[in-house]
Amino acid sequence: MSALNKIARTLVSNRRGILAADESIGTMSSRLEKVGVEPTEENRRIYRELIVTTPRLSESISGVILADETFHQELDNGRTFPEFLDDLGILAGIKVDTGAKPLAGSPEEKITEGLDGLRERVAGYERLGATFAKWRAVLTIGDNQPSARAVQANVHALARYAGLCQEGGLVPIVEPEVLMDGTHSLAQCQQVTTSVLESLFEELELMRVQLDGIVLKPNMVVAGSGSGEQPAVADVARATVDALRATVPASVPGIAFLSGGQSPETATEHLGAMQNFDALPWELTYSFGRALVGPALETWRGDEGKRVAAQEVLSARAVANAAAR
Ligand code: 13P
Repeated sequence: MSALNKIARTLVSNRRGILAADESIGTMSSRLEKVGVEPTEENRRIYRELIVTTPRLSESISGVILADETFHQELDNGRTFPEFLDDLGILAGIKVDTGAKPLAGSPEEKITEGLDGLRERVAGYERLGATFAKWRAVLTIGDNQPSARAVQANVHALARYAGLCQEGGLVPIVEPEVLMDGTHSLAQCQQVTTSVLESLFEELELMRVQLDGIVLKPNMVVAGSGSGEQPAVADVARATVDALRATVPASVPGIAFLSGGQSPETATEHLGAMQNFDALPWELTYSFGRALVGPALETWRGDEGKRVAAQEVLSARAVANAAAR
């Protein structure tokens, strides 16, 4: 078993999943402001410390994805975040893309940037204890969207990112997110997700990415949030598994879903329903952001007296997702 394969397997096995705590400074700041917390560097640190010090986190969380700011911060006990996670038996990951920008030629669509200097950044993070990385591409469903341009540009960037990570010893989490925003049906989401994943795996093979040393982080196949459609849990599970079966090679060790704006409970139910299919070659787990930490942030609201209650809420979500597996 290669070192990359071992890390990838650790991330997705033993009923554990990944916690995405890598919101950019801008996104994290606006989430803090929404709950009445001043968006300072110190408050972002305090909030991330609350998350990683949640008791028994390592029973259901195999890895935590950090943002660059957090990666270099220390907890009150003087340990850096990667060191502290390592103490707990949790792998430390790092978001290495630098965000999604308007795509020239299709400015209403996005291309994720961050390839320049990535080899050196990967080496730096690896030295400081990262074992895996993340890069998120975003694609929208709408009139003539996603365009072939947007799909091709994004899967190309994902494959080059994945290759650079593997060269530097980090397992790439490969995240092609087809957004839930829009009025599209479940069937349209399945069709677009299938076609994006097909292009992605062609490009990963072209770039000689070792497929047993990645974790795929896709969207679940759901109806658009503005569609008025509320597909049954079993239908979402079936549509998602069908899209994956049609496109994801068996050598990929695991698939860890993003939550994408689904309610925490719904995301967990969908994950649970997907475990009922026989003979799937990959582990199916979670790499949720909002669906894991959202309720905890709402509970905490910057009140240190609510710290323990917030950790209990996070723990309950993590345990529920582990149980769903
Ligand atoms: P959500 O689960 O909130 O969609 O976030 C996952 C993630 O890491 C997005 O890049």
